[in-house]
Order: sequence, then C-alpha cells, then structure tokens
Amino acid sequence: MIQTVEMKNITKRFPGVLANDCVNLDVCAGEIHALLGENGAGKTTLMKILYGMYRATEGEIFINGARADLRSPADALAHGIGMIHQHFQLVPGFTVVENVALGLKSSRGPLTDLDVVSRRMRELAAQYGLNVEPNALVWQLAVGQQQRVEIIKALYRDASLLILDEPTAVLTPQEVTEFFDILRRLRDAGNALIFISHKLYEVMAISDRVTVLRDGRVVGQVNTRETNQQELARMMVGRDVITHWDKPTTTQGEVVLEIQNLGVPNDKGLNAVKKFSLKVRAGEILGIAGVSGNGQRELAEAIAGMRRVSSGTIRVSEKIVTNQSPAQIISSGVAFIPEERMAMGVVREFSVAENAILETHAHPPLAQRGVFNFAAINEHCTKLVREYDVRTPSLDTPVKSLSGGNIQKLILARELDRAPRVLVAAQPTRGVDIGATEYIHKKLLEQRANGTAILLISEDLEEVRALSDRIAVMYEGEIVGIVPSDTSVEELGLMMAGARRNL
Ligand SMILES: Nc1ncnc2c1ncn2[C@@H]1O[C@H](COP(=O)(O)OP(=O)(O)OP(=O)(O)O)[C@@H](O)[C@H]1O
Ligand SMILES: [Mg+2]
Repeated sequence: MIQTVEMKNITKRFPGVLANDCVNLDVCAGEIHALLGENGAGKTTLMKILYGMYRATEGEIFINGARADLRSPADALAHGIGMIHQHFQLVPGFTVVENVALGLKSSRGPLTDLDVVSRRMRELAAQYGLNVEPNALVWQLAVGQQQRVEIIKALYRDASLLILDEPTAVLTPQEVTEFFDILRRLRDAGNALIFISHKLYEVMAISDRVTVLRDGRVVGQVNTRETNQQELARMMVGRDVITHWDKPTTTQGEVVLEIQNLGVPNDKGLNAVKKFSLKVRAGEILGIAGVSGNGQRELAEAIAGMRRVSSGTIRVSEKIVTNQSPAQIISSGVAFIPEERMAMGVVREFSVAENAILETHAHPPLAQRGVFNFAAINEHCTKLVREYDVRTPSLDTPVKSLSGGNIQKLILARELDRAPRVLVAAQPTRGVDIGATEYIHKKLLEQRANGTAILLISEDLEEVRALSDRIAVMYEGEIVGIVPSDTSVEELGLMMAGARRNL
C-alpha cells in the first residue's frame, strides 16, 4: 500500500513551454488531494509524470520514502499508482470483465480467469459501491459506468493511489453525488486520491487538501477545511472572479430559429428527439436544461447539419435548412460549439492557426479567388488568440499539444467571431477554468446584446439560470416545459426527471 508519494522539484519543459516549474506535491494514504489551476496551469502534465507517461526534465519522485524511477504507466502501476484519464481507454466491443482482465498475465485458460476476475470485481463493487454488470458490453454502458470500469481496472491492479483527471466533467449532477460516495469509500479504506476539477464547489465538497498551480508553479497549498471558494478562486486566477451576472434587459427581435415537429434519430436509429418545436428570437438566450442523453446532443447536431433529421423542419431566418450540409448551414449564419469538442470541433493534427480558420478560410479577407492571404490569416489568428486568451506558444503549435481548456477557448473564438445569427452552444464551459468561464459568459451575453439567437444547452443549472431568458427542459427527446429563468433549481430538477409543466 502507498503511504506517501512526494514529487520534489519537478520541472517539465516542452518546446517553448515551461509546463511545470519546480513543483512540490505530497499526497498521503487516506486523503483526497485536489489539484486546482487554470487551463494550461500544468495539472495534467504533472499527473502524467507521476503516472510514468512523461519524463520530468528535472526533479524526483519518492514513494513511501524511497526514490522511484517511473518510466512507464506499467512502472507506475507496479508501484501502486493508477490514473483514470478523461478519455477512457476501454475496448467498446468487449465486456466489462474482459476489459478489466485485458493485459493481465494469465497462467490458466481464459475462461477460468474471467470467472476469477468476475468474482473479484463483485467484491470491489460491494466494498466501494462500484456497481457494474461484469458481462455488459462496454459500448452499451453510460459514461458514468465506463468510468467505474476504469476505476475497477486500476484497483484490480492493486493501485492504491488513484489519479482522477477531471472525472466529473463527463458526469451528470446526480452521477457526481454517487461518484463522490465512491471516492469517500476509497479514501476511508486507506487509498490516496488526486482529484482534478474546475468546479470549486466540488473541490470544497470532496477534498481534504488543495494544491493550486498557476503557470506551472505551486502558488498555494491549503487544508480544505480552512479555505473557501473565493480564496481558491483568487489563488488560481490572481484576482476576484465574477460568478454571477446580471443580465441587462434587451429587446428581442424576430424569430430567427424556428424548429417544428422535429424528429432526430440517434446512433442506434431510435428517435432521440421527438416532435420537438421551438422558437428562438434575435437577442434571446433560450436555455435547454436536462440530464444528458435526453436528446440534447442529437438536437444540436441536427441544427448544425451534422446529423440527419427524420421528420420536421428547421428554419433559420427565412430559409429552411433541414438536412442541409454543415457548410450550407454555416453560410446561413449558424455557429456551433459542439459538446464533443475534441472529436468534432478541431482537427488535432492541425495547427492553432489552421483550426482557427477551418470554416472561414475560403472567404475574403483570408483568401481571394482561392489564394490564401497569409498576412491577413496571421493577423486574424493573432487577434483571436489574444482576445480569447488562448494560451499557446505559437500559432503553428499543433492543437493536440494545447491543454484541454485552451482547445475549447480556440473553438469558441472561431465560432463567436463569425458574429452568427444563430449560435448553438452545447456545454460551452465544460472543462473550462473559472476565469475562462467568466469570459465565455460575458461573450455569450455580448452576442445576445448584438442580436444573436442563442440556444444554450447545459447541464449546469446555475449557468442556465444565470444566462437564459427562458428555459426549456428536455426529457426523453421532448420538451416537458418552458419556464422563466428564475425557476428554482428544485423545480427544474423535477422537470428534468420528467414532470410536466404548462407550456
Ligand atoms: N505534449 C505536449 N507537447 C507540448 N506542450 C504541451 C504538451 N502537453 C502539454 N503541453 C503544454 O503544457 C502546458 C500545461 O498543460 P496541461 O495540459 O498540463 O494543463 P492543465 O493544467 O491540465 O490544463 P486544463 O485545465 O486545460 O486541462 C500547456 O501550456 C500545454 O500547452
Ligand atoms: Mg488537463
């Protein structure tokens, strides 16, 4: 069992970036240690060093007092360190138990082994509340359950320090509550946990200690009991952060987005959106609240032309855009911030500049009669990166080496800069730090003031309530009610579970 892990004077340099600068971090058995910091502060890098994925440029790691040389994740696991990544590394076509068994050395036949694995899995499930059906296929599981499989996999390999990099970013509010129960049980059984999150209330609720990183350096370490959200925010960002917005009243214009009787199938061919009708006016933010998986994603993708509609119509201004191509829909003035930003929002191998002009590159002033104007492109991208505070060493850096939050800021910059008529924003602040969240909220309200019709899809009820003019609650592909933005969280919660309200 791991008693203590100490990272001493860890420095990590990437070309042009000092990701970690002489960082000291210690974690002990029986504690949940939160790691906090803005996008690009160096949290994931530090954890990848601890998990043997990166080599530190300088510095040492001590486990239970002895110096450890962690050259690979296999080394780290052998020392009892496990990491649950934000993007799971499971084989979708395998069962849960096959995934857990994958890569384990087996001396006997595979069948016997799977029985053993299955039995041990049930023990772990009972001990920590990690309930998953061993024989279920991974692709059929909800995201929250896949995460449990990852945790079981690490525990099965005797990890007693678990690194959790933004685990709650993919969970619904209800799932987070259950997840925290699991974390507490793991801690109380003597495991050590490192927990990364941008949500300060989560850090306050679950952690015992907090280490704050800024620009790769440790700027503070506190006992959770002796701090509060305000202080943590100040440590992270170096100033006070506005978490509540007073929406100015705006005059709403004509209906710009009109959806009528829409039906949209999901990947399995079942109707995820059913008989869905909605109007959004210029200068209005219409919030869509709902537990994820109730058709929000399919709705957003249908509007953006990335998913075919089986019935109904989508109208943008005077034009019917149902089942048009994404390019046609973009040219009708629709901007889209997808929920699956890593997969749908960027080309990971492309540079920051290339991604920033993905959709506008063929038009003046960036190109004239098919010829790129490199000076104009450069100027445009420099402006976007500066205005939206995208932290990148250069415009030529491949997007895949940016921190998660900075990739999101880049997409936002690109989409909002087009001054769209209709903006569909799905979970726009997920995985984004508090400073950037403040900024994104400000930008959305600016777009609203400029007359954009905004569809804001978010699971963060505080966000929806703060920004929306009206809130539509979605359940099983339908709207169960449209209510004013000051509707209480409790009331919204009931509607999200399917309780109908008068339209
Ligand atoms: N493989 C890499 N190559 C080059 N630079 C990298 C690489 N990985 C990270 N960086 C840079 O190191 C810095 C720290 O990134 P890191 O991913 O650790 O931040 P983070 O704190 O996890 O941010 P976020 O909250 O956005 O996830 C960033 O400037 C990032 O661009
Ligand atoms: Mg990160």
